[in-house]
Amino acid sequence: MVLNRGLFITFEGIDGSGKTRQLELLTADLKKADLKYLLLREPGGTSISEQIRKILLDRKNTEMSAETELLLFAAARAQLVKQIVEPALAAKTIVISDRFFDSTTAYQGYGRNMNVDFIQNLNDFATQGLQPDLTFYFDISVEAALNRLQNRTEKTDRIDLESQIFMEKTRAGYLQIAERNPDRVILIDAERAPEEIYKDLKLQFDQAIDSVKC
Ligand code: TYD
Repeated sequence: MVLNRGLFITFEGIDGSGKTRQLELLTADLKKADLKYLLLREPGGTSISEQIRKILLDRKNTEMSAETELLLFAAARAQLVKQIVEPALAAKTIVISDRFFDSTTAYQGYGRNMNVDFIQNLNDFATQGLQPDLTFYFDISVEAALNRLQNRTEKTDRIDLESQIFMEKTRAGYLQIAERNPDRVILIDAERAPEEIYKDLKLQFDQAIDSVKC
Protein backbone atom coordinates (compact mmCIF):
# COMPACT_ATOMS: atom_id res chain seq x y z
CA MET A 1 0.00 0.00 0.00
CA VAL A 2 1.30 3.46 -0.89
CA LEU A 3 0.71 6.44 1.40
CA ASN A 4 0.71 10.07 0.28
CA ARG A 5 2.43 11.13 3.50
CA GLY A 6 3.79 9.72 6.72
CA LEU A 7 1.58 9.09 9.71
CA PHE A 8 2.60 9.64 13.30
CA ILE A 9 0.73 7.64 15.93
CA THR A 10 1.45 7.57 19.66
CA PHE A 11 0.37 5.21 22.44
CA GLU A 12 -0.16 6.58 25.93
CA GLY A 13 -1.30 5.43 29.35
CA ILE A 14 -0.17 4.90 32.91
CA ASP A 15 2.13 1.97 33.67
CA GLY A 16 0.09 -1.24 33.59
CA SER A 17 -2.48 0.10 31.09
CA GLY A 18 -1.78 -2.77 28.67
CA LYS A 19 -0.51 -0.59 25.79
CA THR A 20 2.42 -2.91 25.08
CA ARG A 21 0.07 -5.81 24.29
CA GLN A 22 -1.89 -3.54 21.92
CA LEU A 23 1.32 -2.51 20.19
CA GLU A 24 2.17 -6.17 19.63
CA LEU A 25 -1.25 -6.85 18.13
CA LEU A 26 -1.07 -3.81 15.85
CA THR A 27 2.47 -4.41 14.61
CA ALA A 28 1.60 -8.06 13.86
CA ASP A 29 -1.23 -6.81 11.61
CA LEU A 30 1.00 -4.20 9.97
CA LYS A 31 3.52 -6.89 9.11
CA LYS A 32 0.79 -9.03 7.59
CA ALA A 33 -0.49 -6.06 5.56
CA ASP A 34 3.07 -5.33 4.39
CA LEU A 35 2.86 -1.70 5.54
CA LYS A 36 6.06 0.30 6.04
CA TYR A 37 6.20 1.21 9.71
CA LEU A 38 8.66 2.11 12.41
CA LEU A 39 8.09 1.26 16.07
CA LEU A 40 9.76 3.47 18.68
CA ARG A 41 9.63 3.70 22.44
CA GLU A 42 10.22 6.71 24.64
CA PRO A 43 12.54 7.53 26.21
CA GLY A 44 14.91 5.93 23.70
CA GLY A 45 15.18 5.15 20.00
CA THR A 46 18.60 6.71 19.27
CA SER A 47 21.96 6.02 20.83
CA ILE A 48 21.88 9.36 22.70
CA SER A 49 18.25 8.89 23.79
CA GLU A 50 18.96 5.34 25.02
CA GLN A 51 21.85 6.67 27.11
CA ILE A 52 19.50 9.26 28.60
CA ARG A 53 16.93 6.49 29.20
CA LYS A 54 19.44 4.59 31.33
CA ILE A 55 19.99 7.64 33.54
CA LEU A 56 16.26 8.31 33.82
CA LEU A 57 15.19 4.79 34.76
CA ASP A 58 18.16 3.76 36.90
CA ARG A 59 16.83 2.97 40.38
CA LYS A 60 20.11 4.16 41.86
CA ASN A 61 19.41 7.75 40.78
CA THR A 62 17.26 8.51 43.80
CA GLU A 63 18.67 12.05 44.05
CA MET A 64 17.34 13.16 40.64
CA SER A 65 15.35 16.39 40.90
CA ALA A 66 12.00 16.75 39.14
CA GLU A 67 13.49 19.52 36.95
CA THR A 68 16.39 17.32 35.85
CA GLU A 69 13.98 14.50 35.06
CA LEU A 70 11.78 16.79 32.96
CA LEU A 71 14.71 18.18 30.96
CA LEU A 72 16.16 14.72 30.35
CA PHE A 73 12.86 13.41 28.97
CA ALA A 74 12.67 16.49 26.72
CA ALA A 75 16.29 16.05 25.62
CA ALA A 76 15.80 12.38 24.74
CA ARG A 77 12.74 13.33 22.70
CA ALA A 78 14.41 16.23 20.88
CA GLN A 79 17.11 13.87 19.63
CA LEU A 80 14.61 11.19 18.62
CA VAL A 81 12.46 13.63 16.64
CA LYS A 82 15.36 15.17 14.74
CA GLN A 83 17.30 12.00 14.08
CA ILE A 84 14.54 9.46 13.47
CA VAL A 85 10.92 10.65 13.47
CA GLU A 86 11.18 13.60 11.04
CA PRO A 87 13.18 11.70 8.40
CA ALA A 88 10.88 8.65 8.68
CA LEU A 89 7.76 10.78 8.24
CA ALA A 90 9.37 12.52 5.28
CA ALA A 91 9.90 9.04 3.77
CA LYS A 92 6.11 8.39 4.16
CA THR A 93 6.52 5.85 6.92
CA ILE A 94 3.95 5.06 9.61
CA VAL A 95 5.76 5.98 12.81
CA ILE A 96 4.34 4.47 15.99
CA SER A 97 5.76 5.61 19.30
CA ASP A 98 5.21 3.90 22.64
CA ARG A 99 4.83 7.18 24.58
CA PHE A 100 5.55 10.75 23.39
CA PHE A 101 5.10 14.23 24.81
CA ASP A 102 1.75 13.51 26.49
CA SER A 103 3.72 11.28 28.88
CA THR A 104 5.75 14.31 29.95
CA THR A 105 2.65 16.45 30.43
CA ALA A 106 0.89 13.68 32.40
CA TYR A 107 3.81 12.32 34.49
CA GLN A 108 5.98 15.39 35.06
CA GLY A 109 3.24 18.04 34.76
CA TYR A 110 0.31 16.47 36.58
CA GLY A 111 2.13 13.64 38.41
CA ARG A 112 4.92 15.82 39.79
CA ASN A 113 2.90 19.05 40.01
CA MET A 114 5.07 21.05 37.64
CA ASN A 115 3.76 23.89 35.50
CA VAL A 116 1.75 22.30 32.69
CA ASP A 117 1.81 25.37 30.41
CA PHE A 118 5.58 25.54 30.70
CA ILE A 119 5.85 21.81 29.95
CA GLN A 120 3.71 22.19 26.86
CA ASN A 121 6.01 24.94 25.62
CA LEU A 122 9.01 22.76 26.37
CA ASN A 123 7.38 19.86 24.51
CA ASP A 124 6.87 22.13 21.49
CA PHE A 125 10.47 23.29 21.66
CA ALA A 126 11.81 19.73 21.91
CA THR A 127 9.72 18.45 19.00
CA GLN A 128 10.01 21.66 16.94
CA GLY A 129 6.22 21.75 16.87
CA LEU A 130 5.74 18.18 15.64
CA GLN A 131 2.41 16.76 16.83
CA PRO A 132 1.16 13.18 16.50
CA ASP A 133 -1.63 12.70 13.94
CA LEU A 134 -3.35 10.36 16.34
CA THR A 135 -2.84 9.35 19.97
CA PHE A 136 -4.37 6.29 21.58
CA TYR A 137 -4.77 6.84 25.28
CA PHE A 138 -5.45 3.61 27.18
CA ASP A 139 -7.49 4.58 30.20
CA ILE A 140 -7.48 2.30 33.22
CA SER A 141 -8.10 2.76 36.95
CA VAL A 142 -4.97 2.82 39.09
CA GLU A 143 -6.28 -0.19 41.00
CA ALA A 144 -6.63 -2.30 37.84
CA ALA A 145 -3.22 -1.12 36.58
CA LEU A 146 -1.55 -2.08 39.85
CA ASN A 147 -3.12 -5.54 39.64
CA ARG A 148 -1.63 -5.98 36.19
CA LEU A 149 1.77 -4.71 37.32
CA GLN A 150 1.88 -7.29 40.10
CA ASN A 151 1.83 -10.05 37.50
CA ARG A 152 4.68 -8.49 35.52
CA THR A 153 8.00 -10.28 35.38
CA GLU A 154 10.18 -7.30 34.24
CA LYS A 155 12.26 -5.46 36.80
CA THR A 156 10.68 -2.31 38.19
CA ASP A 157 12.39 0.95 37.19
CA ARG A 158 12.80 4.25 39.06
CA ILE A 159 9.45 5.63 37.89
CA ASP A 160 7.61 2.33 38.59
CA LEU A 161 8.55 2.89 42.25
CA GLU A 162 6.29 5.95 42.45
CA SER A 163 3.29 5.99 44.76
CA GLN A 164 -0.32 5.25 43.99
CA ILE A 165 -1.12 8.95 44.46
CA PHE A 166 1.40 9.81 41.74
CA MET A 167 -0.36 7.32 39.44
CA GLU A 168 -3.76 8.84 40.26
CA LYS A 169 -2.48 12.33 39.42
CA THR A 170 -0.91 11.07 36.22
CA ARG A 171 -4.13 9.39 35.14
CA ALA A 172 -6.09 12.57 35.92
CA GLY A 173 -3.57 14.41 33.74
CA TYR A 174 -4.14 12.06 30.84
CA LEU A 175 -7.88 12.53 31.14
CA GLN A 176 -7.40 16.31 30.92
CA ILE A 177 -5.14 15.93 27.90
CA ALA A 178 -7.76 13.73 26.19
CA GLU A 179 -10.50 16.23 26.96
CA ARG A 180 -8.48 19.17 25.65
CA ASN A 181 -7.38 17.45 22.44
CA PRO A 182 -10.50 15.66 21.18
CA ASP A 183 -9.36 15.75 17.53
CA ARG A 184 -6.06 14.03 18.24
CA VAL A 185 -6.51 11.84 21.32
CA ILE A 186 -8.72 8.76 21.25
CA LEU A 187 -9.64 7.52 24.70
CA ILE A 188 -9.83 3.75 24.87
CA ASP A 189 -11.36 1.91 27.80
CA ALA A 190 -8.44 -0.35 28.71
CA GLU A 191 -10.19 -2.33 31.42
CA ARG A 192 -11.61 -4.78 28.88
CA ALA A 193 -10.15 -7.94 27.36
CA PRO A 194 -7.17 -7.23 25.04
CA GLU A 195 -9.01 -8.52 21.93
CA GLU A 196 -11.95 -6.23 22.58
CA ILE A 197 -9.71 -3.21 23.09
CA TYR A 198 -7.85 -4.06 19.92
CA LYS A 199 -11.06 -4.10 17.85
CA ASP A 200 -11.66 -0.44 18.80
CA LEU A 201 -8.08 0.54 18.17
CA LYS A 202 -7.87 -1.18 14.78
CA LEU A 203 -11.05 0.50 13.56
CA GLN A 204 -9.64 3.95 14.34
CA PHE A 205 -6.24 3.04 12.99
CA ASP A 206 -7.69 1.85 9.67
CA GLN A 207 -9.58 5.14 9.33
CA ALA A 208 -6.35 7.05 9.82
CA ILE A 209 -4.61 4.93 7.18
CA ASP A 210 -7.49 5.45 4.74
CA SER A 211 -7.05 9.21 5.09
CA VAL A 212 -3.47 9.07 3.82
CA LYS A 213 -3.78 6.35 1.16
CA CYS A 214 -2.88 7.33 -2.39
P1 TYD B 1 9.10 2.06 30.29
O1 TYD B 1 9.78 0.87 30.85
O2 TYD B 1 9.32 2.38 28.85
O3 TYD B 1 7.58 1.97 30.67
P2 TYD B 1 6.25 1.64 29.89
O4 TYD B 1 6.39 0.25 29.37
O5 TYD B 1 5.20 1.81 30.95
O6 TYD B 1 6.13 2.67 28.79
O7 TYD B 1 9.51 3.29 31.21
C1 TYD B 1 9.20 4.56 30.93
C2 TYD B 1 8.77 5.24 32.21
O8 TYD B 1 9.02 6.62 32.11
C3 TYD B 1 7.28 5.07 32.48
O9 TYD B 1 7.06 4.89 33.86
C4 TYD B 1 6.71 6.41 32.09
C5 TYD B 1 7.85 7.37 32.35
N1 TYD B 1 7.88 8.57 31.49
C6 TYD B 1 7.77 9.82 32.06
O10 TYD B 1 7.64 9.95 33.30
N2 TYD B 1 7.83 10.92 31.26
C7 TYD B 1 8.00 10.83 29.91
O11 TYD B 1 8.05 11.86 29.21
C8 TYD B 1 8.12 9.51 29.33
C9 TYD B 1 8.33 9.37 27.85
C10 TYD B 1 8.07 8.41 30.16
